Amino acid sequence: MEDDGVSNVKDSVLMSEITCSDENISNTSTEPVCTTIDGNKPKRPPRSERKRQRHEELLLRRKEERKRKKIERKQRMKEEDNDSNNERSDDRRVTQQMKEARRSRCKQALIDGQKICIDCSLEQYMSEKERGKLIMQINRLYGSNLRADNPAHIYLTGLKKDSSLYEECVKKMDGFENYLIDSKEEHHTELFPLDKIVCLSPDSPNLLTDIDSDKIYIIGGLVDENIKQHVTQTRATEHGLTTARLPIEENMIKLQQSSHSKILAVNQVFDILMKYKETKDWKQALSVGVPRRKGYVIEQEDPT
Ligand SMILES: C[S@@+](CC[C@H](N)C(=O)[O-])C[C@H]1O[C@@H](n2cnc3c(N)ncnc32)[C@H](O)[C@@H]1O
Repeated sequence: MEDDGVSNVKDSVLMSEITCSDENISNTSTEPVCTTIDGNKPKRPPRSERKRQRHEELLLRRKEERKRKKIERKQRMKEEDNDSNNERSDDRRVTQQMKEARRSRCKQALIDGQKICIDCSLEQYMSEKERGKLIMQINRLYGSNLRADNPAHIYLTGLKKDSSLYEECVKKMDGFENYLIDSKEEHHTELFPLDKIVCLSPDSPNLLTDIDSDKIYIIGGLVDENIKQHVTQTRATEHGLTTARLPIEENMIKLQQSSHSKILAVNQVFDILMKYKETKDWKQALSVGVPRRKGYVIEQEDPT
């Protein structure tokens, strides 16, 4: 925009009364310092020039502001990074400590924990797929045991080193040979006094009312997608062993659905035993192990 003469004259008069120079005025702006060339008539740059300069100043200020903010941001990020690195290494330390504590509890359980056996001598009743599922269930129950405050002494009995089940355990469970589990080739009847063994079976006529720390509880290492009834019950009675079923009907009610099953997976039975050991309450114990899809719920729940 062009300069208007009126304001220029007025400005010049005012400016002529002042002597300004670079030396006596500390001017941080880029606007030129007013000065007179001939000593009488100070000349101001035209308005368009001043406007351009102001604009440049503004841009410069903005640039510097952006630069300052960027530095601050970087600094903040660095500090946050340090904080989260510290937190992460704290987490790692805690996790490592937790892992060590769990392992040491399980090591102790191999000395004085509640004895629970998974009977691994039932391989002939399972397909390869069912064997694979059994391995997953053993893996899960091993994980539950590691997490337990009072872990059990887990045995895998009748697990022959030359069996497909053993081979698959090694293949599918990472570090299986270092698991804190007692793996035995012998059958449970060769390892424990017969009168101390309780074989768990959904087909048992007897009710499991309590868990006795002197007894050894046997869970059949079976996945029966095509249900083979009475396998564990028949085998146990053949050996003259006591059998017991979980008190599902006594503590749970049937949902209004067509199918109901009291046959649970190996890891579910294990979780129920562990919860009962901890709480001495069958309702609480069964509620952790019996999935709703089995058609049973704890009594206080609405059965619809
Ligand atoms: C999938 S079940 C196998 C059922 C199989 N038909 C049998 O003859 O045992 C796996 C194992 O979990 C235990 N189990 C499952 N449901 C049970 C229940 N309701 N009461 C007691 N033990 C049970 C038994 O030890 C059983 O052998």
